Parts: sequence; structure tokens; C-alpha cells
Amino acid sequence: MSVESNLKKLFSLEGKVILMTGAAGGIGAELSKGMAGAGAVMCNCDVSERGLAELANAIVSEGGAAESYVMDVTDRKSVQTAVNAAAAKFGRIDVLVNVAGINKREGFLDVLEETYDRIMDINLKGVFLVAQAVVPHMMKRRAGSIINIGSHNATAMLGGCAVYGATKSGVVALTRSMAVEWAEWGIRANAISPGHILTPLTQVTWDHPTRGDYLRDRIALRRPGEPEEILGLAVLLASDASSYMTGANYVLDGGCIAGGAPWDFDSEYRFKKENA
Ligand SMILES: NC(=O)c1ccc[n+]([C@@H]2O[C@H](COP(=O)([O-])OP(=O)(O)OC[C@H]3O[C@@H](n4cnc5c(N)ncnc54)[C@H](O)[C@@H]3O)[C@@H](O)[C@H]2O)c1
Repeated sequence: MSVESNLKKLFSLEGKVILMTGAAGGIGAELSKGMAGAGAVMCNCDVSERGLAELANAIVSEGGAAESYVMDVTDRKSVQTAVNAAAAKFGRIDVLVNVAGINKREGFLDVLEETYDRIMDINLKGVFLVAQAVVPHMMKRRAGSIINIGSHNATAMLGGCAVYGATKSGVVALTRSMAVEWAEWGIRANAISPGHILTPLTQVTWDHPTRGDYLRDRIALRRPGEPEEILGLAVLLASDASSYMTGANYVLDGGCIAGGAPWDFDSEYRFKKENA
């Protein structure tokens, strides 16, 4: 058997129907395009109708398959309508990818109650509502994979992200419950926790006179991640290659939680390299 056919057998998403929330965003759009490129039929969900249309055009023009569903993850009715429409159209949902999420960076004492509720509703309750709507469809086929996007802030904390961090810790906790409760239905659930990823929304942080350097110093690879660098792990967790992987939180952070860029330690090898 050729390398190509071995890899295809392991990682191909051909024929899989994937429902993704937050698909029109910086990370969602890259994951959706990449998963479509691996053979999946994408059911892209987002509040942004325009973003969804642009994404569908990009996927279809590359020969992929994509349908768009306007969905507000905080609204149970909107979630049910979109999920049922996708399940009716394709007769199945094999993979759920919960990407929708927001943040507002401000100090703990500055956060208004409305802001707290909004971040909680989208990031945490949204994952809950969408899973409640999708999983009965997976149970019918006794198979499924759920991928929840967590964050570096689920484990380690920056200042000014209290509510966001709490929601992402909650997403990782929900992931464990999903894995434990639904294993008997053949459904797996894992979280991907990206570190600092460069998207149009985070560009200002990387361009900031102090915050960009602060972050680079805390990343072993000394650069932000690109959204497409999350794709390999997402394809693995969506594919049958991850059939024994469930209930875990996979950190993808360029060596941030590992310790970041090293201090100025003594090493003959480093000395030689720097003076070569
Ligand atoms: N960018 C990073 O550095 C980073 C790092 C770790 C985790 N994350 C997480 O990755 C995910 C995507 O982040 P991103 O950087 O692509 O952000 P983004 O703002 O580019 O994308 C978020 C998407 O979610 C959609 N959305 C917002 N509210 C919604 C709602 N109520 N219902 C449905 N869709 C809604 C938005 O329209 C947008 O398309 C988020 O969960 C975020 O917390 C991002």
C-alpha cells in the first residue's frame, strides 16, 4: 500500500459531515477550509451571514462542499433550527466543532455584569446548547467526534481575561463530561487549547509597543501561531486516527505553558552557536 493511501485511510475526512460554529471567524474559516480540503462536507454556522457567504464561496471555488447556517449560539431556537436543517439535509452529523467565542480584555473590577453574561453566554452556554442539539443526531448513528476550542487561558492566566479564562476552563470541564457520558454511544470529545494565535482581531496586540514583546518572551517558538497551524490537530481529532483519544485538552501553544523563551542560561553550545 502506498504512503498516500495509508495516510488517507488514517486521516481522511471524506464523507464526514462537520458542523462548525464560529466558522466565519479567523480560526474557524481556516479550520473549515482545511477540513473541507480533507474531504468533509462543512455545515458552517455563525451570526455573520456575510462571513458565511464569503467562506462558502472560498470552499466551493476550491472544489469543496459547504452549506451555511445563520446561528446564534446563545439562542436555543436558533441553534435547534440550524442543527436540524443540517441534519435533515445530510442525514447525519459526524463531527461538531465549537469555535464561536468572544473576549473583552479588561480588569476584573472593570467588568460590567452585562459583559460577564455576554462572554459566559457565547463561550460556555453556547457550547452547551449546541452540543445538546447535535448529540442526539450522533447518538442515532452511535458515532461522533466533538472538538471544543478552549484556550491557553483555561490553564494559565494573563491579566484582564478573568471572565474569558473562566469560560474556557468551563469548556474544558464540559469536554470531560461529554467524553465520560457519551463514550457508550461511540461519541468522543476533546478540547484544543490554542495559545496566542495571530488573527485580524489579535493583530493589535502583536503590534502593541509592550504587549507584543511580552507575549513573544513567553512563547518558546517566539512567534504567534497561525490559524492554519491548528488544522492538523483538528483533522486528527475529527478523523478515525484518533479513535482512542477522548476527554483530553490538547494544548497547541508554541511552548508557552512549557515555560516560554528560556532565560539567559550558560551553555558551551549556545556560546559557540552565537559566535559562529
Ligand atoms: N485568536 C486567538 O489567539 C485565540 C487563542 C485561543 C483561543 N481562541 C478561541 O478560538 C475561537 C475563535 O477565535 P478567533 O480568534 O477566530 O475569533 P473571531 O472573532 O475571529 O471568530 C469568532 C467567530 O464567532 C462568531 N460568533 C460570535 N458570537 C457568536 C454567536 N453568538 N453565535 C455564533 N457565532 C458567533 C463571530 O461572528 C466570529 O465569526 C474562540 O473560541 C476563541 O476564544 C482564540
